[in-house]
Amino acid sequence: MALFKKKHDKHLKKERIIVSEGSSRFGSFGYTRLRDNLLYINSDGKRKVIQIESALAKEGKTSVTANLAVSLGLTDKKVVVIDLDFRRPRLHRVFGLEKENGIAEYMMDNLSRENIVKHTSHRNVDLITRGTEIYNPALILVSEKFKALIASLREEYDFVLLDCAPVLQVSDYIHISKVSDGALFLVSYGKTTKTQVADAVKELNKNNITILGTLFTMYDRKKDSRYGYGYGGYYGKYYDSAYGDTPKGRAARARKEIEEEKAAK
Ligand SMILES: Nc1ncnc2c1ncn2[C@@H]1O[C@H](COP(=O)(O)OP(=O)(O)OP(=O)(O)O)[C@@H](O)[C@H]1O
Ligand SMILES: [Mg+2]
Repeated sequence: MALFKKKHDKHLKKERIIVSEGSSRFGSFGYTRLRDNLLYINSDGKRKVIQIESALAKEGKTSVTANLAVSLGLTDKKVVVIDLDFRRPRLHRVFGLEKENGIAEYMMDNLSRENIVKHTSHRNVDLITRGTEIYNPALILVSEKFKALIASLREEYDFVLLDCAPVLQVSDYIHISKVSDGALFLVSYGKTTKTQVADAVKELNKNNITILGTLFTMYDRKKDSRYGYGYGGYYGKYYDSAYGDTPKGRAARARKEIEEEKAAK
């Protein structure tokens, strides 16, 4: 799957949440597609705790976590997003909430689990921030108290999305995988090299982390020479925006996909 790069989107820097009710803004249909895939993957409720990963920094993990949460929330799923990028916590900014009173305070026994969950302005979406400074991420992530937190959120929410640090820079993903059901792996189009992707995937495989899906972020169709030559394969199928993101458009796109699948058999 792929999410398009936004070049001149004045909202991106400011809020970075592009998904909203009935939105047909450029780019939001990619989240609809991603959301629908995750709803399918988690239809039995067994793949609900998902770590959002990528090889490097700035590949769009935080943006995807936030927008995906909002998109799931709009389908009446209860979602909690947790900032587990302890070194560069940013989720609170995206949702316009304070960073304090999060995981750090819960771990120090200053706040109970109920008191660290913040309601966002988006329907069905809650947030747990990092809180004040955390000096020993690994110790926190392997602690029984942290595991108990995730276990109780698992009971209460339909989805628990974990915004993580880059795989090739920080090894926290290994500890996080012990409480998650799998990873969504992001690749920034035109930036991350094949070797970096291969190294990161090797790390995830080595630690038996199930990759539930991979996603191109910042995808720039114009730079993809394959389109100039009538490319109609995987990306053509998934990113055909000609129908728009309306109920009619989605139904038309679904019909087209069924026909394509039939033809391929
Ligand atoms: N689709 C997009 N098109 C263009 N820019 C984007 C897109 N998605 C996110 N960005 C921008 O790219 C930058 C990095 O995004 P983001 O913070 O989501 O990445 P990240 O992988 O979480 O980074 P880090 O590893 O540093 O936490 C941000 O400035 C964000 O606004
Ligand atoms: Mg981030």
